[in-house]
This record gives sequence, structure tokens and C-alpha cells, in this order.
Amino acid sequence: MRRELIEAAVARIRELSGLRPRVCVVLGSGLGGVVDIVEDGERINYGEIEGFPRPQVEGHEGQLVMGRVGEVCVGVLQGRVHLYEGVTAEEVVLPVRTLIRLGAKFVVLTNAAGGINEGFEPGDLMCIDDQINLQGTNPLIGANEGGYGPRFPDMSCAYDKELREILDSAARAEGIELRHGVYAGVLGPAYETPAEVRMLRILGADAVGMSTVGEAIAARHMGARVCGISLITNKAAGVGKGELSHEEVKRVAAGAAGRCMRLLARAIAEMGKIV
Ligand code: HPA
Repeated sequence: MRRELIEAAVARIRELSGLRPRVCVVLGSGLGGVVDIVEDGERINYGEIEGFPRPQVEGHEGQLVMGRVGEVCVGVLQGRVHLYEGVTAEEVVLPVRTLIRLGAKFVVLTNAAGGINEGFEPGDLMCIDDQINLQGTNPLIGANEGGYGPRFPDMSCAYDKELREILDSAARAEGIELRHGVYAGVLGPAYETPAEVRMLRILGADAVGMSTVGEAIAARHMGARVCGISLITNKAAGVGKGELSHEEVKRVAAGAAGRCMRLLARAIAEMGKIV
């Protein structure tokens, strides 16, 4: 547990801004543009916050943008680090933990993912109903010091039912089709083989990606309420015909960013009404 680093990051953000976000949003690959939902945004580069891991992957910006969505104060993490970059599971979740310590009660996780469910098409948005952590690690490994949460946190409702309902009604109001499914988080960075994708389907996964599961675990550990949106950027290996590439992932993500923005802006404004 990196308590000192987290508390130092909290103190640093308090120095740089008077805003206290109620909702933390993490923007995944190619979804950085969704930050435009923030009004009166104050930007802090991750480099200004000691201990914040700096994303190296293209399509991940590396800044915290705090401001308003409707009446709600949000902190948007534009860019995240991934385990495959060589950082630890604890480091991956440090920014999310920091925002929760700063007061965020809700965490909205977004990612780009491959569609395993045959009914999914590139460009679809999927509300994450549950997850399978196949990353071979867990951010809670090690001493459970710091008073952030229990040793053995419950994960039976990891993705909050009320928040999922808010996402559904926001999608309806915006005329956006919202799929539902289980997200499998793998280590990467190689995309899966078709045999691995068949295995993931048997395990119950509808989508696969290389992020999110650790952040959801850390957020639940701290008692925050979590929801997530996967943007299906491609059919997973063997489900579709073509080869997989990060360029394709970014291109499809850019094309769906507008829909994702409308969905999140409306849903976050609603989250502000929960007492
Ligand atoms: N697999 C894993 N991660 C991904 C994929 C995929 O097919 N697409 C976008 N992120």
C-alpha cells in the first residue's frame, strides 16, 4: 500500500486546486477527447503530482482535469497506466485512490475493448455489469495498511446497480444503444489469440481489454461506487476477420467519442443527484 504517495498526491492536488471532485472518471484509449464534457476545467499534468505514474501509450494524455459536469464536480483522469508498461498493480490504481481520498464517491471507468460477444459491433458501447480479473495480480496484494478498506473486500456488486440504471436511462434519453456484459481484464500487451478468445467466451466474458479491473477493485476496497463503459473498438481475435491494431482501436474510439461524451455527461449529472 502506497499510503505516503497517495496522501502526498492528495496534498499536492489540494495545493493546486480548490476543487473537490465527487465523481472520478478514468478515460481509456482513444477516449481522451471525452474530457470536453468538463466545464471550467482546471488542468494538472500528472508530472506535477509526484508519484502519479506517467502513461507512455499513444492515445493516453496524462492529465487530471477537474471542473463541472452540470452541477457535479468531477475529476477526469485523462490517460492511465497499464500493467504491461511495467508498473505495479498498486501504481496503476494510485490516481483513482488519490481522487477517492480527495472525496470522490463515484468512479466511472472507461476503456477500449475487443468484442467477444458475437452480437457486438465495433463502435458499440457496453455497460460493464461485472468483471473477470485475469491479470494475474491484484492492487490489494501486500499489507493492508492505511485504513483504506477491509482486507477482503466484497466484490459481489462491484459494478453498482443504481449507477448501471442511470447509464441505461441516460442512454435511452440520448438515443444511444447501450449493450451490457462482462469485461475480462487481461495483462496484454499482445492481443489475444483466437483460442484465448474462445476460452474467455467460455469463462463468461463479453469483452476483453487490458485495464480497468484493478481500478474497480481498489475503488470498491475504498467503498466508492463504481460503474464502467467499454467502447468496443474491434471484434476480438478470431471473432472478426481482420488483424487487430492499435491504430484501428484509436480510429474507432475517436469515432465513438461523441456518443460516449453525451452518455457520460448525462449520467454524471444524474449521479450528482444521488445523496
Ligand atoms: N483485446 C484486448 N484489448 C483490447 C482489444 C482487444 O481486442 N481492443 C481494444 N483493447
